[in-house]
Amino acid sequence: MMKVRKAVFPVAGLGTRFLSATKAMPKEMLPVVDKPLIQYAVEEALDSGIEQIIFVTGRGKSALEDHFDKSGELEEILRAKGKNELLKSIESVIPDSGTIIYTRQREMLGLGHAIWCARNVVGNEPFAVLLADDLIQSDTPVLSQMLKEFENLQSTMIAVFEVEPSETQKYGIIDAENISHNVKKVMGLIEKPTPEKAPSNNAIIGRYILTPEIFDILGQKKIGSGGEIQLTDAMASLLKDQSIYGYQFKGTRFDCGDKAGFLMANIAYALERPEIKPKLMPFINSIVK
Ligand code: UTP
Repeated sequence: MMKVRKAVFPVAGLGTRFLSATKAMPKEMLPVVDKPLIQYAVEEALDSGIEQIIFVTGRGKSALEDHFDKSGELEEILRAKGKNELLKSIESVIPDSGTIIYTRQREMLGLGHAIWCARNVVGNEPFAVLLADDLIQSDTPVLSQMLKEFENLQSTMIAVFEVEPSETQKYGIIDAENISHNVKKVMGLIEKPTPEKAPSNNAIIGRYILTPEIFDILGQKKIGSGGEIQLTDAMASLLKDQSIYGYQFKGTRFDCGDKAGFLMANIAYALERPEIKPKLMPFINSIVK
């Protein structure tokens, strides 16, 4: 039985939809309330039992590395001032030494290429991929939901959700048959189809469990939609040899790579916080009037 121990975090994208905020820092460092997006995703992976985190970085590498490293001076100051809660919150961010490995994507050739850059660190075993800009509010972490299902399926899985038919051009879209209330057998995949060409409105979002055979296909470096090496295209090739399943997760997904989605996430997460909600609610009520 195959076990998923490693998770790849592609964080090398340009984040053009968020310029100028992302000019000098990766979009994964944008905060939702008081934590950067990447921290939510890393916590999701660790809470789901992942043992090894692999960052595929590009620009802004130092901000990400520093975030998951000790900050001696800051910790000292907080300790001296007796700010123990804050101290705990920054110490808890840092996984044990050796848990995070960094590798670099030298050219921004697309998500598929970024994942291929992790091939030697992943090796010959199934692995998870998390895109931190897809933030999902849920009782059970989405990766954990998927790993539970993977125990039975033992094959490639992608998280899917239904989008408005007019929105298909923003996503990878699957053609699929339902095999249970939340699992679909994928019959085909297509990256960013127009609504006329979309086989369904089931869109792929940024949680995947992939088998290592994907690396051979990505290594062929076929250029797809947007001039990039697309993971969706590689999975469409993989489908000839292996089964792929779509998993309809439980949770609310926010597209934090998009300005409106990012603001919605901030409001939703802030309203969960008892110290913020009483200040935020009257403000929201006053501006919507
Ligand atoms: P996006 O499609 O969201 O692209 O990438 P982007 O560059 O981050 O953002 P926009 O569209 O320009 O605003 C999906 C994921 O793939 C990573 C990104 O960091 C993001 O997590 N990625 C994308 C890479 O790591 N390398 C790439 O070459 C492209």
